[in-house]
Amino acid sequence: MPLQAYSNEDTIVRKMDDLLRFLRIPSISADPAYSGEVRRAAEFVREWLEQAGLDNARLIESDRPGAHPLVYADWLHAPGRPTLLLYGHYDVQPPDPMEEWISPPFEPAIRDGNLYARVAADDKGQLFILMTAVARLFGKNGGKLPVNVRFLIEGEEESGGTHIEEYVTTHAAGLAADAAVICDTAMFAPGIPSLTTGLRGLVYGEIHAQGGAQDLHSGDYGGAAPNPLEAIAHIIGALKSRSGKILIPGIYDRVLPPAPAEIEAWKRLPFDAETFRRTEVGSTALAGEPGFDVLTRIWARPSLEVHGILGGYTGEGAKTVIPAKASAKISLRLVFAQDPAEVQAQVAAAVASACPAGIRAEFRPMSAAPPCLIDPSHPLVAAAAEAMSRVFGRETAYIRCGGSIPIVVIFQKRLGIPSILAGFGLPDDRIHGPNEKLLISNYIAGVDSMIQYLEYVGYRSPGVGYGQNH
Ligand code: BES
Ligand code: MN
Ligand code: MN
Repeated sequence: MPLQAYSNEDTIVRKMDDLLRFLRIPSISADPAYSGEVRRAAEFVREWLEQAGLDNARLIESDRPGAHPLVYADWLHAPGRPTLLLYGHYDVQPPDPMEEWISPPFEPAIRDGNLYARVAADDKGQLFILMTAVARLFGKNGGKLPVNVRFLIEGEEESGGTHIEEYVTTHAAGLAADAAVICDTAMFAPGIPSLTTGLRGLVYGEIHAQGGAQDLHSGDYGGAAPNPLEAIAHIIGALKSRSGKILIPGIYDRVLPPAPAEIEAWKRLPFDAETFRRTEVGSTALAGEPGFDVLTRIWARPSLEVHGILGGYTGEGAKTVIPAKASAKISLRLVFAQDPAEVQAQVAAAVASACPAGIRAEFRPMSAAPPCLIDPSHPLVAAAAEAMSRVFGRETAYIRCGGSIPIVVIFQKRLGIPSILAGFGLPDDRIHGPNEKLLISNYIAGVDSMIQYLEYVGYRSPGVGYGQNH
């Protein structure tokens, strides 16, 4: 469908032309071959923010080779009003498998009211919600905003980069704010405005197993030589039971259960495990820890997954070999108040103790992010719920998210501020997968919600009568 079909919606959609240009930049942060494109995306954002009317729009470089720049811009001319730190990421996940895309990942296309492209939802489209809301407020208020804002946008979120963490830690004073606003999560279901109050953390790493000094003939040595691929299978089996309980000693010790009110609220959400199984997962049965319902398993319990196993002969035909080494990529999602460093040590100990004789096995951590909780009664969080309820015409749901956004904890720890996790994606947006999309009506409602939110925060702040500037 041609873009013009939407041009009468309003100026938000005209701004979408810019979003389409943004989406066409393949800013894949994990692949060094794309570092020029990553920089082009950073420059696009910097220039856009400057033209929109923000001050001090600049790229912040790191000394670390291969690091990607941060984009910073601010507008701080509303004395006495709160300051919001607007965060997003301009980098994208690799688009493969390419052959499964109906339209190419970096050629945005519109079908059935959805915008299809890599990062339509995670996160360029959602970052653009914040950018567009601010630009529209400038237009509406003669070049002024109802609140102070700082944009801080990173290009390493999808590749586990540490630039933003280093910068926030060393420049906390220059980033002073009352809350962060992040559009990088999803709504619970279509039409239900949702604020996320908890994110899981992550421990990611590889298990490496070494058997003999080199690959061996399985006729000559089968029955006598240790097999590292089998060791990997044994070790994985020792980490998680067949029924889905994690067996790593101590892993559940620090897990805090959700508050009773939160559990009650989750029960009222329109969720059917059977529909979820059929329409989202597509398997014959669901897996996971016995004794907990699906939402609790995803939002409030740790999980362990195997992502890939490497080793031995996987080519065409048969090869009778006992491999010398094997490895597996695994990760655990963590919940409050698990500590990533402690979990890494627990995994390492469990791997060592499950390792069969004759094999040397170890866990090599690759990245980690702590879990977090957001207090929904914080006034700046509650104001966001109210703004979203108004726009969507329905009460905002407080949900959690099984994924991770590492910066939220850094903002909490280093700047002492909560994050407003106002997401406008949908569960079926296929983030990180082929045919990622963003529902255009959510994009528009997202911009409206953020405009309302910034107005609420500005005009209701202490000493400022609500509606004064309307
Ligand atoms: N935007 C996502 C986080 C997310 C996931 C929000 C699912 C809502 C639903 C973020 O970009 C992401 O992908 N995070 C990574 C963590 C990171 C350390 C690679 C994740 O959760 O795997
Ligand atoms: Mn994201
Ligand atoms: Mn992501």
